[in-house]
Amino acid sequence: MSDVKEAVRSRYAGVARQLAVLQPDTNAGCCQADGPDCGCSGSYSADELKEIGLSESVSLGCGNPTMLAKLEPGQVVLDLGSGAGLDVLLSARRVAPGGHAYGVDMTDEMLSLANTNMGKAGIANATFLKGSIDKIPLPDSSVDVVISNCVINLAEDKAAVINEAFRVLRPGGLLAVADMVELETLDPDLKRRLDSWAGCISGTIPIEEYRAALLAAGFADPDFQIHATQTMPDIDGKVGSAYIRARKPAAV
Ligand SMILES: C[S@@+](CC[C@H](N)C(=O)[O-])C[C@H]1O[C@@H](n2cnc3c(N)ncnc32)[C@H](O)[C@@H]1O
Repeated sequence: MSDVKEAVRSRYAGVARQLAVLQPDTNAGCCQADGPDCGCSGSYSADELKEIGLSESVSLGCGNPTMLAKLEPGQVVLDLGSGAGLDVLLSARRVAPGGHAYGVDMTDEMLSLANTNMGKAGIANATFLKGSIDKIPLPDSSVDVVISNCVINLAEDKAAVINEAFRVLRPGGLLAVADMVELETLDPDLKRRLDSWAGCISGTIPIEEYRAALLAAGFADPDFQIHATQTMPDIDGKVGSAYIRARKPAAV
C-alpha cells in the first residue's frame, strides 16, 4: 500500500473506532467529526435519519449524494468509500423492494461499523464489500447509480476510480457524487502533507481536471455545483464542496 493510501486508511480506521463509541444521538457534526463541517450538516432529512436510527454525526461526507439521484425500487446502487454506511442504508430503503445497495470501503474498521449500523437499521438489502475503489469488486454494467461522498479526492489515481465507476454502471446509469474540489491553487507544501491529504484537502483537484477525467472515461454532460467553501486559515475559499453529476451514455 502506498504512503498516501496508508495515511487515508489509518485515519479512517481511527475515526471508525471513535464513531463506534458515540451514542446515536451525539451531535458531533458531520464531515471529519473532530474538524470543521465541510458541507453535509443539515443535508439529511430528520425523518429519513430517524427511519434508519442513525444521526448525521456518522457522516464523514461533504454533502448528501442521495439527494442527487431519484432512486427507485428495484435499482442497484453502489457507494464508493461507504464509511459508516449512512448513504448506503438510506439508498437501500429507497430501492426496496427488489433493489440492492452496495458499499465498497478498504478500511476494516469502517466495514465493521457499517455492518453494525445495518443491523441497527434493520436493513436486509445492503452489502458492504471490502475493496479499493480503483478496482471495484462488482461486474461490468451491474449498477444503476454510483454515489460517493467525500472520497474520490482521497484517491491518488482519480482517473482509475472514475473509469471503474463507468465500467460498473449500466448504459444510461448515473454518477452522483459529493466531493471536495480545489477552487484556487493550494500551497505546494500543503499539497504534500499526508495528514492534509487524508483530511480531504491536499488530494483535491480543480473542477476542469475533474471534468476532463469524467469526459475521458466516457461520461456525458458532467455538471458541477459548489455548495460550500472551506474557511479555515491556509485554505480559506480555496477548497469547496461540490455536487457532481454525470451520465453514462445509453448506447456505448
Ligand atoms: C471521508 S470518509 C467518507 C465516508 C462516507 N462516504 C461518508 O460520507 O461518511 C472516506 C472513506 O473512504 C474510504 N476510502 C478512502 N479511500 C479509499 C479507497 N481507495 N478504496 C476504498 N475505500 C476508500 C475510507 O476508508 C473512508 O471510510
